[in-house]
Amino acid sequence: MNEAVPRWCSWSEPGPSFDHPEVSVARKVGYIVGSLSKDSINRILSTCLIAVAPDGLEFTEIPIGDLPLYNRDLDNDYPASATALKDAIASSDALLFITPEYNRSIPGALKNAIDWASRPWGQNSFDHVPAGVIGTSPGNIGTAVGQQTLRLCLSFVNARQMTAPEAYIQFDPEIYLPTGEVTDAESKEVLASYMQEFQEHVERVLTVLPRN
Ligand SMILES: Cc1cc2nc3c(=O)[nH]c(=O)nc-3n(C[C@H](O)[C@H](O)[C@H](O)COP(=O)(O)O)c2cc1C
Repeated sequence: MNEAVPRWCSWSEPGPSFDHPEVSVARKVGYIVGSLSKDSINRILSTCLIAVAPDGLEFTEIPIGDLPLYNRDLDNDYPASATALKDAIASSDALLFITPEYNRSIPGALKNAIDWASRPWGQNSFDHVPAGVIGTSPGNIGTAVGQQTLRLCLSFVNARQMTAPEAYIQFDPEIYLPTGEVTDAESKEVLASYMQEFQEHVERVLTVLPRN
């Protein structure tokens, strides 16, 4: 590991703690990994995030790899995989996106999934859904640009994004292990703080915009 290189970039200070009533039910978080690679470092990051998440969040991956390319000609005859995507989002209380940066944007597979779930017109699955964005890359800006692109899409589809803190994770295979273990205490604390803030963001949003 190169000690001179930060393991994350642009970490904003956590906000004040949200004083919300004790939540007795677990919140269902659907998480979407933007990479289709079997060796995805973003899937490793998702495992690490889940491992340090606070109690009260239950995680289910929402797969995006089997979706055909979006075509509006199919708006009246959605393929089963696209219907399954919309159903999975509908049954989630919140969404967490963990994605690589591809050519300073988001992977086509992720954009394709967002396009499917945002349609047919009038049936946008993301409307008012609490959402978090995070990602990792080997480079030292750690998906910072890709995350902004994703945020642009999520704004348009009216997801209720957590805007701070941001977390741009520079991947280090000695720190973020496929088992979910994070071997560096400071890096682990960053992920744990991010997930704590995410939980509080989800509760804030659901307090005023409850899901079914
Ligand atoms: C098509 C393509 C474009 C990429 N563009 C970027 C980029 O813009 N910024 C970056 O930091 N890394 C970029 N990378 C490198 C990825 O960060 C790296 O492959 C990473 O492992 C992808 O995440 P994953 O392992 O979860 O698939 C790119 C990789 C590919 C295959």
